[in-house]
Amino acid sequence: MTDNNLARSSTPRIAADQLHAYVSAIWERAGSAPREAELVADHLVAANLTGHDSHGVGMIPRYAASLADGQLQLNLHAEVVKDAGAVLTVEGHKGFGQVVAFEAMEAGIARAQRIGICAVGLRGAHHIGRIGHWAEQCARAGLVSFHFVNVAGDPLVAPFGGADRRIGTNPFCAAYPRPGKPPLVLDFATSTVAYGKTRVAYNQRKQVPAGALVDHEGVPTADPKVMHEAPFGSLTPFGGHKGFGLAAMCEIFSGALAGGFTTHADTLGTTNAIINCMLSVIVDPAAFDAPDAQAEADAFIAWVKASPLAVGTERIYEPGEPERVTRAEREANGVPVDAATWTQISAAALAVGMSADEVARWSALLQ
Ligand SMILES: NC(=O)c1ccc[n+]([C@@H]2O[C@H](COP(=O)([O-])OP(=O)(O)OC[C@H]3O[C@@H](n4cnc5c(N)ncnc54)[C@H](O)[C@@H]3O)[C@@H](O)[C@H]2O)c1
Repeated sequence: MTDNNLARSSTPRIAADQLHAYVSAIWERAGSAPREAELVADHLVAANLTGHDSHGVGMIPRYAASLADGQLQLNLHAEVVKDAGAVLTVEGHKGFGQVVAFEAMEAGIARAQRIGICAVGLRGAHHIGRIGHWAEQCARAGLVSFHFVNVAGDPLVAPFGGADRRIGTNPFCAAYPRPGKPPLVLDFATSTVAYGKTRVAYNQRKQVPAGALVDHEGVPTADPKVMHEAPFGSLTPFGGHKGFGLAAMCEIFSGALAGGFTTHADTLGTTNAIINCMLSVIVDPAAFDAPDAQAEADAFIAWVKASPLAVGTERIYEPGEPERVTRAEREANGVPVDAATWTQISAAALAVGMSADEVARWSALLQ
């Protein structure tokens, strides 16, 4: 689920446009060109608006640390290193994922609109955040897309049957545009719960759902401290062997196929940088001979939503609908940002050169 349910009524809020302006100002102060700062702010604030706070503005401290480490590179752009017509290989050069993934999608969208399909292999991108953002970019252009992503060299998940961290939280995403309606957007990590959600539970001294974690000996536990205190345990893949299999294919399709790298003993990361590789397959639905496609998709969605509700359930959601519900609420009432996260963002703003007075002025907007 989204992080909406984690927000307490007492959590302070800030209007989305003000948060966007603050995030842009931080990155411009760090040295980003205005367009780069805008794309980063677009992405991080949209992640918060959709309820995925684990991939929103709370990432700023980690990005600032990656910049200080000399890992994240500012003002770099996606480079098409091989153009094979329907297949593009794109190098991210450790540039801001919010920039290089946007540019890789732009290239793939233009090609798919011309010839019906394009597979884009993006490698070496600094963290590309919420993958649904890239599927939504394709959907706005009227295109279907599938995305397979690895978190290269940063394992947090045990293989099915294993007892230590060998795989990233490798997300899978797919989107289906519908003229006149919001797209269907399926977008999830292949771990049972996202790592960021174990941090929230740990800070709040809460347990995580049963089956989400194993300790350092592979024993199932609901205590999130195994992710935050040595000896470290692991996240589990969702859905047993099936989630593990999907995570493995995400790793190979994104990290191997397009010339990036996969996670193994030689590639384990030691910095604050999160490096993603992504294989995106972008398809123009108009290229099929399927005049009834939209009606068939709509009929199916209406059919499943008409199911009688199971005990304890209030609503049946289509893929992407929980995010839309949260977005509407947060656009109206502001984005909640907890005090600890705001303090960390302020420290990052100071670290990239913003004055204490300016940080204080922005902080006054959080109420
Ligand atoms: N860049 C990276 O390295 C990286 C790594 C891992 C995850 N992520 C991102 O983290 C985000 C969070 O992932 P997650 O696994 O916590 O997501 P999640 O468990 O909240 O699942 C989200 C998906 O499930 C759907 N959904 C949620 N509740 C539903 C319900 N009750 N009924 C029907 N559908 C429902 C949503 O519409 C969405 O498609 C994703 O956006 C993902 O792309 C990024």
